[in-house]
Amino acid sequence: MGTISYLRNFARDRNIASITPTSSFGVNRIMRGIDFKKAKVIVEYGPGLGVFTEKLLAQMHEDAMLIAIEANSHFARALSAKFEDSRAHIVNDSAENVLDILQGCNVQSADYIISGIPFSMFPVELKDRILDNTRQALSKEGRFFVYQFFGLPSKSKTDIKYKLAEHMDIVRSEVEMLNIPPLRIFEAAAAAESARSATS
Ligand SMILES: C[S@@+](CC[C@H](N)C(=O)[O-])C[C@H]1O[C@@H](n2cnc3c(N)ncnc32)[C@H](O)[C@@H]1O
Repeated sequence: MGTISYLRNFARDRNIASITPTSSFGVNRIMRGIDFKKAKVIVEYGPGLGVFTEKLLAQMHEDAMLIAIEANSHFARALSAKFEDSRAHIVNDSAENVLDILQGCNVQSADYIISGIPFSMFPVELKDRILDNTRQALSKEGRFFVYQFFGLPSKSKTDIKYKLAEHMDIVRSEVEMLNIPPLRIFEAAAAAESARSATS
């Protein structure tokens, strides 16, 4: 998809939320938390034009699976055409349906979920639904990565930082300045540390 088509989609769909893709500094900083030797199933929410998708496929094991859930149908079509890789499953749907989507791919749980969707624009009920379903979709050791623009109002109790902490354990919180605009990055564990050590 060319720049003009991208901008046309951006003008029509407010949930695209960003006029530029995440920088390679941002992508690398987020992906630092992924152990590709262990990752069997990776899910991406809101791949857009695939800046993460490309790097994930380059590093993923040949038996691993990537499920990319993109709500914008034009982007989903462009991604399917771009990534002709049997490990990549591009699904034109909303992240809130992740549990049904995993089932449709015959997968029980995900090892990693990376989210680029604009949580700050969603009503609080949708944030809660996505976060609750994400926690259920992750394996016991699973990790969830969220990135949002730095500078958005973040004191409200409905901000992703607080909402994420209600559903999971935040284990990493960073800012990547080499992105336009800078990014807030969170990594969360599906199960609390205490619950994990009690069952292992
Ligand atoms: C800010 S862009 C991020 C694109 C890309 N991941 C990047 O980092 O450059 C947000 C993307 O999320 C998609 N999106 C928005 N709401 C979504 C939802 N509920 N489920 C899945 N994708 C969604 C948009 O269509 C858009 O492609």
